[in-house]
Amino acid sequence: MMRLLLVVVVVLLLLVLDVASSAALVGETCSSSSSCGTSSSGGLRCTSCIPPPGTGPAVCARTTPIDPISSSLPFNRYSWLTTHNSLAVVGTKSPIGSAIISPPNQEDSVTSQLNNGVRGLMLDAYDFNNDVWLCHSFNGKCFAFTAYQPALSVLKEIGAFLESNPSAVITIFLEDYTAAGSLGKVMAAAGLTKFLFPVEKMPKKKEDKWPLLRDMIAQNHRLLVFTSKQGKEATDGLAFQWTYVVETQYGSDGLAQGQCRNRGESRPMDSKAQSLVLMNFFTTNPSQSWACGNNSSPLVTKLKACYQASANRWPNFIAVDFYMANAPFGTYDMRRTPSPSPSPSAFAAAAPPKTSPSPAPSSIMSSAASRRQVSEREGATTTIAPAASSSSSINNQRSFLPAFILMGLLVLLL
Ligand SMILES: *[C@@H]1O[C@H](CO)[C@@H](O)[C@H](O)[C@H]1NC(C)=O
Repeated sequence: MMRLLLVVVVVLLLLVLDVASSAALVGETCSSSSSCGTSSSGGLRCTSCIPPPGTGPAVCARTTPIDPISSSLPFNRYSWLTTHNSLAVVGTKSPIGSAIISPPNQEDSVTSQLNNGVRGLMLDAYDFNNDVWLCHSFNGKCFAFTAYQPALSVLKEIGAFLESNPSAVITIFLEDYTAAGSLGKVMAAAGLTKFLFPVEKMPKKKEDKWPLLRDMIAQNHRLLVFTSKQGKEATDGLAFQWTYVVETQYGSDGLAQGQCRNRGESRPMDSKAQSLVLMNFFTTNPSQSWACGNNSSPLVTKLKACYQASANRWPNFIAVDFYMANAPFGTYDMRRTPSPSPSPSAFAAAAPPKTSPSPAPSSIMSSAASRRQVSEREGATTTIAPAASSSSSINNQRSFLPAFILMGLLVLLL
């Protein structure tokens, strides 16, 4: 039972994208990533993802979601790009010398993922070798051949990213096999304690609210950690995931279109006592070509089903394998491919009610022909969203699409 992990995410780059606008655009053919603009400035890379991978023409594809720009909404009004098994990176060798037998789920390191806008990380934690290790294992036990990294080194990477990105907010979902006290200790050793969003401030009842993203940033409460193991709130200061999060079925069982059921540990998707919604979208056996074909319109279709199943709430965390995989020339960028990609307006239609202050995604997704146009539209968008007055009124409109980041994700994946 190799299984899951967790985690979370968001954002960066619209402004930067704009700066890079002299480089090639999304969807243009390319020979190297530098012709798309460097990934650090443009968020683009040259890739071919028409299944099977590598067989289609290479085009510039986006690897980074769009920066929401506004941080004036409550935390649970954003959607964060989340990597499933964030650490199971192609070609990894365990530092203890064993070849890892677990199949990879991602293509690049956690630091690279964070640089590319991933803000949710799913990790499996085990007591191993007298320490806490991140493994992708089975039967609740870590082995040399499933042990990716000591948790400390990865947590330090996360800490370094938080230090150098003062407005980044990261969420970690731990599939937790450690004993009480292990994780709290290693988090402290990694210097993460000061960033932790305090468990006692997390909404525990329907009436409780998440703070505004900007207030979390101002208070430096920029790391949320959820564990699958009960009892860690008292011993390690880590939130028990199922108190706060509803989560969809994972693996291939969770892929059926037109429905969106919860995984066994989670309360039903429409349970409002949990204020965060996590949608899994990946196969049981990780497959890059599957991701190439399905991290696109099928993902949007699933989002819609989950929106409805989750009492009109968009997923806050969208967990995928091979987050950089999408299908250039097909559905990866709806702004440039009017058809046969899914209709953005169909997506918008499932989105916010007319009374919502949310910008309609369609106004942004519709056929903008260049990044600059999109940027301008995004710019207009930001002036709309913060107009929603008080945080409580925003909170009360849960059906509001967490538009900014979701759009970022769509740009990334579609
Ligand atoms: C997309 O997912 C479906 C359902 O899992 C699968 O049958 C199909 O082959 C996938 N597409 C690709 C290109 O892998």
